[in-house]
Amino acid sequence: MVMVMQTFGLKTQIILGNGSLSRLQKITSSYDRVLILASRSVKREGFLKEAEKYISEAGAEVESITGVSAEPSYEYVEEILPRAREFHPELIIAIGGGSVIDVAKAVKVFYDSPETAFEEIAFFSRFQRPKPIPKLKTPLIAIPSTSGAGSEVSGASVLKKNGVKYNLVSFEIAPDFAILDPRLPVTMPREVARNSGLDVLVHAIEAYVSKAASPFSDVMAVKAAKTVFELLPKSVEGDNEAREKMHYAATMAGIAFLNGRLGLAHAMSHKGAWMAPHGLLNAILHPCVMEFNMRDEGARLRYRELAKELGMKDEKELLARVRELNEKLEVPKLREIVEEREFLARLDKMSEKAYHDPLISFNPIEPSVEEIKKLYLEAFYEK
Ligand SMILES: [Fe+2]
Repeated sequence: MVMVMQTFGLKTQIILGNGSLSRLQKITSSYDRVLILASRSVKREGFLKEAEKYISEAGAEVESITGVSAEPSYEYVEEILPRAREFHPELIIAIGGGSVIDVAKAVKVFYDSPETAFEEIAFFSRFQRPKPIPKLKTPLIAIPSTSGAGSEVSGASVLKKNGVKYNLVSFEIAPDFAILDPRLPVTMPREVARNSGLDVLVHAIEAYVSKAASPFSDVMAVKAAKTVFELLPKSVEGDNEAREKMHYAATMAGIAFLNGRLGLAHAMSHKGAWMAPHGLLNAILHPCVMEFNMRDEGARLRYRELAKELGMKDEKELLARVRELNEKLEVPKLREIVEEREFLARLDKMSEKAYHDPLISFNPIEPSVEEIKKLYLEAFYEK
């Protein structure tokens, strides 16, 4: 008998529900100094002030760094590290979209382990062998204000350095708590709700067909995908209940890909990040990737299984429904948002880089550089 062993885990304790932000008071009561990293919109909507109030009432000193950029970079992490070191927090809180949480994860690494060098632990290619991230001690609380990235439960942080996107991956940086308060995503602009919601679907489907999928990650993927098909259009329109359910679905998809990982659509969108926002680009590339993966018998069966779980006939219907959702939500064609000349000029390098992306290892089939290039072209010239 061939031995097959899989694992499934979740480090993060999840707290959810309307007003659950107030749980900060209880969690922070055993700490003296708390550092918050927050996005501009979280400050604008008053949630930063509310969080600071809970922490002050718990008797802890709080320092906030606001305006954390939506384009997380190591350079920015280096810029704010001295402030973190000077304040010397015992707990770090990130309130904002996935990028704010990703920045907080990196701050935690270099705050707890100042002797660690970014180049040693960060990687951008599946052929690199980074050093493991050392044991870290400062707890991290993630409070997402958007519903998509899954960073509130994942052990991954994506950061740019000198314009190149690097990954940090370790259970050490997975948040200790995630607070899912649906009052936060209610304030998302329509476009952010759409793009991040479409990303949830790509997370769910890629995690389901991934080589690392297990029956446990499947459960999370199915529920998340079901929620997107049923409720994303309503959520985009601003329906509060749909937004709440989408907020939880985003974290479910996060749990699915934390364990089951992702695939070719994410590899291609990470390396093509200059073209469009992450979720939107994923939504554009994903149907072509699905079609490509379906050439493989095993992958086709997995798509079919997922389709049936979602109450659809087969993998063809699943693909049609994914395309239909894009249309319904007015996802543009790639050629409508990217200039052709620039696209063609960058195509070869981008395809090469995507081939090296660590997520290719989990895609049901390994594509060649040429095949990746063809997929980018297909997405670009799609009718
Ligand atoms: Fe994503």
